[in-house]
Amino acid sequence: AYEKLWLALALVLIVGFIGTITYGAAGAGIEMIDDEGGTVDPATLDQHPKFGDPGIERTGENSYDVYVVARQFVFEPGTTQPLRVPADSTVTFHVTAADVIHGFEVVGTNANTMAIPGQVSEFTVQFEEPGEYGMLCNEYCGSGHHVMEGKIVVM
Ligand code: CUA
Repeated sequence: AYEKLWLALALVLIVGFIGTITYGAAGAGIEMIDDEGGTVDPATLDQHPKFGDPGIERTGENSYDVYVVARQFVFEPGTTQPLRVPADSTVTFHVTAADVIHGFEVVGTNANTMAIPGQVSEFTVQFEEPGEYGMLCNEYCGSGHHVMEGKIVVM
């Protein structure tokens, strides 16, 4: 009889945690969505229709897809030149890594994911006001980890 009680208690806790996470993400006006694409072959990343030449792509009146490749020690796009998005737009990021595990964080927001070779992480961000945001790698990825950063310019 006790097993059932513990099981029920565990379920309540799990549901509670999920609720907290969902509420936390929605509270900041940033929506995290599930990864649907899932996987990508790191060996042929350069020939991939999206990740081969990563960048921004318009998908609707105010919506964009952004494909980001993280590699030691740059974000493409973002590091060499800033990623530019219009204000008042909804941007879905698709993030992968070319070599080792990196992080991808939009500084000052809770938009934050891991960039993993072979996997595509997706999340959606609402950019309302013009301004600048930093991009940051927050997973240790080698000697240049601390300089791995980029910039997003909301125009
Ligand atoms: Cu890339 Cu740390």
